[in-house]
Amino acid sequence: MTGSDMIIAPSMLAADFARLAEEAQAVRGAADWLHLDMMDNHFVPNLTVGLPVVQSLRAATSIPLDCHLMIEDPARWAPGYAEAGAYNVSIHAEATDDPAAVARDVKAAGALAGLAIDRDTPLDPYLEILPEFDLLLIMTIKAGFGGQKFLPELLEKVRQARRSAASGHLDLRIEVDGGISADTIEAAAEAGADAFVAGTAVYGADDPAAAVRNLRKIAESARS
Ligand code: DX5
Ligand code: ZN
Repeated sequence: MTGSDMIIAPSMLAADFARLAEEAQAVRGAADWLHLDMMDNHFVPNLTVGLPVVQSLRAATSIPLDCHLMIEDPARWAPGYAEAGAYNVSIHAEATDDPAAVARDVKAAGALAGLAIDRDTPLDPYLEILPEFDLLLIMTIKAGFGGQKFLPELLEKVRQARRSAASGHLDLRIEVDGGISADTIEAAAEAGADAFVAGTAVYGADDPAAAVRNLRKIAESARS
């Protein structure tokens, strides 16, 4: 942890998968969380990594692991990520009929619980279950691939969530994911996000730790 109110979470989707431990090391002291994208080739077309990689990374780094499950049947799999030592486990609203039940299982297994909302999913049906979650992940792209262009119109959902959390006195972290860079993070912070996933903008940079620090600086000044 860096002592900042803003969470910067480099997405390892843009890192070198053969060197994940070193890539984690490269942002140590700068990043708050490491964001891990689990894709199962069913919920999204892409396929990435799963539980064994989380278990190995947990042993290789002390940075909290923020697991984003883009998978079907999260009720079956999500608690296992908590047991493996994930700090936060986010499941997709579109992947289950009962996200709140999965959140309870994740929390009982020892992690924070996140609810992820994909590009085409409205937030309204989920407002009433937000108290079950520690984190709301608003996609700012269509989930499934890194390196896509940020969609600013999706920040309306961030504004809506921030208003709803404030009126309900909820302690809710709002994370944005997709196309976050030095050019887009300010608008996301102004909309009310306080956690920022960045893949390409961090691991595509010559100095990933410096890229994280720069993102944090912009996010903090947007809020002050
Ligand atoms: C995509 C993932 C993102 C992705 C973001 O579905 O959820 O976490 O890694 O990558 P960038 O920052 O390159 O858009
Ligand atoms: Zn993600």
